[in-house]
Amino acid sequence: MLKRTHTCGDLRVAAAGQEVVLAGWAYRRRDHGTIIFLDLRDRYGVTQVVVTPDTPEAHEAAQRVRSEFVLAVRGLVRRRPAGMENAGLSTGEIEVVASELVVENPAKPLPFEIRDDLEANEFARLRYRYLDLRRPRMQRNIILRHRAVKLMRDYLDGHDFLEIETPILTKSTPEGARDYLVPSRVHPGKFYALPQSPQQFKQLLMVAGFDRYFQIARCFRDEDLRADRQPEFTQLDVEMSFVGQEDVIELVSGLCRDLTAQLTEAEPPSLPFPRLTYAEALARYGSDKPDIRFGLELQDLGDLLAGTGVGFLKAALEAGNVVRAVAGPGMAGLSGTKLREQVKAYEEVVKIYGAKGLAWLDYPAEGAPKSPIAKFFSPAELAAIAERCAAGPGDAVFMVADTVRVATAALGELRLRLGRDLNLIAPGQFKYLWVVDFPLVDWNEEENRWDAMHHPFTSPKAEDLARMESDPASVHANAYDIVLNGVELGGGSIRIHQRDVQERMFQLLGHSAEAAALKFGHMLDAFEFGTPPHGGIALGIDRFIMLLAGEQSIREVIPFPKNQQALEPMTGTPDVVDKAQLDLLHLVSTAKKDA
Ligand code: AMO
Repeated sequence: MLKRTHTCGDLRVAAAGQEVVLAGWAYRRRDHGTIIFLDLRDRYGVTQVVVTPDTPEAHEAAQRVRSEFVLAVRGLVRRRPAGMENAGLSTGEIEVVASELVVENPAKPLPFEIRDDLEANEFARLRYRYLDLRRPRMQRNIILRHRAVKLMRDYLDGHDFLEIETPILTKSTPEGARDYLVPSRVHPGKFYALPQSPQQFKQLLMVAGFDRYFQIARCFRDEDLRADRQPEFTQLDVEMSFVGQEDVIELVSGLCRDLTAQLTEAEPPSLPFPRLTYAEALARYGSDKPDIRFGLELQDLGDLLAGTGVGFLKAALEAGNVVRAVAGPGMAGLSGTKLREQVKAYEEVVKIYGAKGLAWLDYPAEGAPKSPIAKFFSPAELAAIAERCAAGPGDAVFMVADTVRVATAALGELRLRLGRDLNLIAPGQFKYLWVVDFPLVDWNEEENRWDAMHHPFTSPKAEDLARMESDPASVHANAYDIVLNGVELGGGSIRIHQRDVQERMFQLLGHSAEAAALKFGHMLDAFEFGTPPHGGIALGIDRFIMLLAGEQSIREVIPFPKNQQALEPMTGTPDVVDKAQLDLLHLVSTAKKDA
């Protein structure tokens, strides 16, 4: 075997005249009749290898080389002839003239090419993930992930945190998703649950006195998948004792600032990050994870339309509903057909969120408005709406009259769509935001009960504690989310650390004392043995890397992800297992082998 002396990204002009051995994949091969050029690639870069008929054995071997053969090449580094340099390559000033070429392993024709501007379907990419991961873009993402996680470790180590592991085979933790269960062989009919997060263990580590804990923690949640959701994902999980909300926010803001500064080309974000209450975020952006890379805030028109003669708006307001609006800059300039088409598309967006329709007004720079309902508004109303929505000549305004919940969610989504469609989001920005003062609980219409907005260990604000039973909806939590570019990056809270408050919380969530003791007895017990006040947070590492890498899906930054159907096409997971395995686990299969 030829042992490599340098990587394919190492060599510069200073190495000219040296004999080297490189190893890597044949990226491109150009056969100029007598001379063959091979671009040899590894994760460090690409180096051009030249094979001439002066070395007949190497030349003969090079003729048989195809894409993605693994090669080892011995040769002499030389400066490329004037005019032949490649400024796009870090090694572009040199080439290696081969004296010996070994094919370590040939490659069959590939299912797709190894290049960045690839449009192969995702199934093929995941089926041959080891090829997909060879693409420079994927290599950059995985390397970025390594660097980000290393910076996280260094940052937290520098702040006196200890990295501590917690179990994977454990008891169900309520994070709001379904559990993945693992049957016990030793205890027939009993199951371990894979952790939805290490929440309870990290709190118990605080009880144990490890006052600053972190973990790069794998979490498992059986939920419907989206671009930013995987059934298994990784959190940067953090917990601290003797702290308040501000301590956690300061620590994590510093970490996010440092990572952005060190891993992106962007202007480092300045501290402190902006902050919105949950109520403000919903009112102004229609979302608890606002994308503040652009304005276009939602507006309430209720007071402006108090005496309106516009029938459906009057009826909505009289019924106690709201009229909310968002501007569409420049949209009045569209042709009538284009504008109607666009409105139709936007109507579909708001309908997904339960809105019955989308009303719109336009303020053309010249000529009459195209909106069919403009004539029903008084000139004063039209002017007041324009002013409230900062809509000038050439702009449009979209309105939803509905319940607060529907109008907020529908317009929040429409705002995001407008931001994208109207190119209001300049690329390369990293806009962090803390959302604070979440409600403690959320009413679950279907189940007719209160759900924890964050999780049941989140503490109510001290000043609201007395209203936990009498008016739960008005109770705020010591909970906070960090949002980056409209993506929920992480969430955490200051926890309950007193047994009586924890019991009241379980009761509010509808757990009887017996049920709470059965499920969470270990937590309640621990709170009777000297529990420090504590709090923490978890950041979604996959989402963080996705945003730092400028990718649209976390699947682009996870080496071996599941697809949207929770399948992993390369190994064919999940799969049936042998009857003998099922018998051992006391399970009966209903699946067919080739189902
Ligand atoms: P939470 O459930 O908000 O909090 O999760 C924290 C962060 O984890 C990421 N995340 C996910 N990423 C990818 N795929 C998923 N399915 C997925 N689900 C969540 C998000 C999210 O903000 N134990 C608490 C934290 C705490 O209170 O300290 C928890 O897990 O980025």
